[in-house]
Amino acid sequence: MLILGIETSCDETSVAVVRDGREILSNVILSQTAHSKFGGVVPEVASREHIKLIIPVYRQALDEAEVTLDEIDVIAATIGPGLVGPLLVGLSFAKGLAYVTGKSFVPVNHLEGHLAANILQHRTLDKHHLTLIVSGGHTMLVEVKQFGDYHILGRTRDDAAGEAFDKIAKLLGLGYPGGAEIDRLAAGGDPKFHRFPRAMRKEAYTFSFSGLKTAAALYLKKQGQTVRDRHLSDIAASFQEAVVDVLVEKTVAAAAAAEVRHVTVSGGVAANRRLRECLQQQLSRDGRRLFYPAPELCTDNAAMIAAAGFYSYERYGPGELIADAIPYLGLNTA
Ligand code: KG4
Ligand code: ZN
Repeated sequence: MLILGIETSCDETSVAVVRDGREILSNVILSQTAHSKFGGVVPEVASREHIKLIIPVYRQALDEAEVTLDEIDVIAATIGPGLVGPLLVGLSFAKGLAYVTGKSFVPVNHLEGHLAANILQHRTLDKHHLTLIVSGGHTMLVEVKQFGDYHILGRTRDDAAGEAFDKIAKLLGLGYPGGAEIDRLAAGGDPKFHRFPRAMRKEAYTFSFSGLKTAAALYLKKQGQTVRDRHLSDIAASFQEAVVDVLVEKTVAAAAAAEVRHVTVSGGVAANRRLRECLQQQLSRDGRRLFYPAPELCTDNAAMIAAAGFYSYERYGPGELIADAIPYLGLNTA
């Protein structure tokens, strides 16, 4: 079965063609550059960019997959969570295509898309596993009993881990989004250069990153430009270590409590090399296995939406064309 996936929940315009939830035929991802001068995503600008880009990106996705619209079986699009204007562009486009072609439409939860990136890539992954979804908008630990059946163990009280990465990157003058740049710089820095606070250590699976963000901002203000310039990579490494420590500690504990053999990490921050390395190390000590997606499947992309669309279609059948965008959509915990 060929699924056309469409993702426009934030600032990536992406369209993909995926066969049977496993084989990527194309995955065109256009990261909008119009936001960098604002230091963050401007929803109105993102909506307008999606409108400009969605048709060319869709055409390119079909071309690269070497298929025609006729050959597509199901059209899947992100319905939420995300920015309402951007979501509506992809959703309306998907529903329009489904309406004129008479094909099935499947609404997809963006968070299910992230966790499905691992199901898409790893055939040996157990149906029952634990996932850490960690992105610019979310930080949560979820026990996946099977696709569509979730138990949320914990989430962030305030900011997402990716948001903290982006904020510190901005303060360090690294541009937006800066997570990947901190990752790169940190590789050459000393993670013990400065100890930033680790929050919520006693709250089993609850995260908090706003205190760390403030602590890092105050620290940078106090240090002055010379120290910042001289120790840029040490500061990046120390900050990254504080985020990674907490993510790893809680994920390892949650995996033991959920009694799973397999753990996955997904979302933009899952591309972080230090996070992958530490998770891998600590989970393997307990005999558990870590899976993570290829970097381009960690950050927002339509292949993961097409994969989630396939599994959702298998489980629930087609969705309704009256489906509306749901900016604060949570994970279905039924
Ligand atoms: O999943 P995503 O594309 O969008 C959301 O759904 O939020 O995640 C984007 C986030 C940004 O905060 C970005 O800085 C972060 O993922 N990110 C990283 C890395 N690559 C992307 N953070 C740390 N290390 C990375 N290598
Ligand atoms: Zn995302």
